[in-house]
Amino acid sequence: MQPLDPKIVLPLLDWYACHGRKLPWRRDQDPYRIWVSEIMLQQTRVETVLNYYDRFLESFPTLEALAGAPEEKVMLAWQGLGYYRRAKGLQEGARQVMQEFHGRIPRTRKELMSLHGVGSYTAGAIASIAFQKREAAVDGNAVRVFSRLACFEHCLEGAYRKELEKAIEDIIPEDHPGQFNQAVMDLGSMVCTPVHPRCSECPLQGMCLGKQNGTAQNLPRLPEKKSKTLEEYAVLLIFHQNTVLLEKKTDGLLKGLWLFPMVPGHYTENEISSYYYDHTLESPRGLLCCGHTRHIFTHRIWEMTFFTLESHLGGRLFPGACPMTADMLEEHAIPSAMALGVREAQQYLRRWNGSRENAILYI
Ligand code: ADE
Repeated sequence: MQPLDPKIVLPLLDWYACHGRKLPWRRDQDPYRIWVSEIMLQQTRVETVLNYYDRFLESFPTLEALAGAPEEKVMLAWQGLGYYRRAKGLQEGARQVMQEFHGRIPRTRKELMSLHGVGSYTAGAIASIAFQKREAAVDGNAVRVFSRLACFEHCLEGAYRKELEKAIEDIIPEDHPGQFNQAVMDLGSMVCTPVHPRCSECPLQGMCLGKQNGTAQNLPRLPEKKSKTLEEYAVLLIFHQNTVLLEKKTDGLLKGLWLFPMVPGHYTENEISSYYYDHTLESPRGLLCCGHTRHIFTHRIWEMTFFTLESHLGGRLFPGACPMTADMLEEHAIPSAMALGVREAQQYLRRWNGSRENAILYI
């Protein structure tokens, strides 16, 4: 890989000083707060993170508070942000810092990468922003900006990504490493955008080979996308009096979160009724299909059909499930894949008010 042109540094920093976004994690250089922001920003848009960041830090204002909190409380604060493994990793990382680093967040890329949930990008971002280290933070934005600037034709995965990291580190300015990396992030998300780059607004347009060659828009070369697996489920909202059943997922995707019981496959109302009868020897009352949704994860798509039903035998079919009232639904971390079910269940439970007839009337 050709070295990068150090002449880009000054115009980029000037542009950042005028146009950089004023974001809450840029108010100070507290390593804990920066760590939290970088974990939240993994695979998640800035606008989404803004709805969670301050609230999360109010709940867990220090590393000690996060390390000592119950896992359930951390999951609840993360509810809706998705990729829940990040929340678990962040808390495990905080506990690691308490135990292995005497409560002080380490400063080097290597040590940072030994923490749970911290990969090369996040370590580079924390080291440069919080500790002013000349470390690159190469995410999708950086790959796009530099591929265009230097007209890299390679798909920047694996070894090439490492080379890019090294090339960036050779030009990172001694006195402003954090600003440099964040300037690249902002340029990538506001100007050098994936589909219609705003080259006329770019402070580096005079030095951009991609612009000169007319190929900017086609770069970077991306790896071939893996196709997602489609999975179908019947999701059962099993009511008994003023409760509905939820199960805590103990493994795999969404581990640690609470979901309504799910049965793999595609079912009609009659088929669910038979399924329920086969397992409990009881036909459920009030069985209704209340809608379909699909939820897209990184590698799979869930197509879900939601059913409401009333039975006191749900625990026989789903032995680990826990009956929850409307208030309890609000106190447990339930992923947004279940949003339709939560809405329906809340409506039913809030109207239950001592009598099945009150609730059922409105379903
Ligand atoms: N994406 C990842 N890290 C970021 C940061 N520090 N500022 C803005 N966007 C980001």
